[in-house]
Amino acid sequence: MGKLDGKVVLITGAASGIGRASAIRMAAEGAAVMCADIDLAGVRETAAMITEGGSNAAAALELDVVNEAEVQTALQSTVDELGGLDVIFNNAGIGGNEAGWDKTIAINLSGVYTACSTVPRFSRSAVGARSSTPRLLRGWSA
Ligand SMILES: NC(=O)c1ccc[n+]([C@@H]2O[C@H](COP(=O)([O-])OP(=O)(O)OC[C@H]3O[C@@H](n4cnc5c(N)ncnc54)[C@H](O)[C@@H]3O)[C@@H](O)[C@H]2O)c1
Repeated sequence: MGKLDGKVVLITGAASGIGRASAIRMAAEGAAVMCADIDLAGVRETAAMITEGGSNAAAALELDVVNEAEVQTALQSTVDELGGLDVIFNNAGIGGNEAGWDKTIAINLSGVYTACSTVPRFSRSAVGARSSTPRLLRGWSA
């Protein structure tokens, strides 16, 4: 039995590095994983690595964490395609000085805030419309 059996996880920045490794590991622990990244080819590859490995369900979508509408769509797609949402791993980010202050803050700080602040609004809008809403709310408050 996996530590994440029955859980649905959304991971941002899942096209490479820590995000990809986490997606594969969480799937191996039983989670269904939505792999999201600005790099669509990369997340498709991550999701394929999971499903071809037979670990668990996985899907991929293009997401720029700076774009609130895309974050909203990512949350909805996770619920629609994988049946709920228990965990968001806000992993997407950039490092180094070359990107500059504004872009770094937008992705590394505002991107996390956008995802976290969208979950409660998303769940409220889904109340009464989806049986998966209580799961999503539990994941948010956990
Ligand atoms: N590797 C380290 O030593 C280290 C140390 C401290 C913090 N971090 C942080 O951990 C996270 C992952 O690091 P990593 O080494 O795996 O980096 P990485 O560059 O391999 O992966 C980051 C991923 O985020 C994606 N991404 C970038 N901007 C995005 C956006 N606007 N929307 C969606 N996706 C976006 C990239 O396409 C990439 O796939 C980053 O936030 C990084 O800053 C890493």
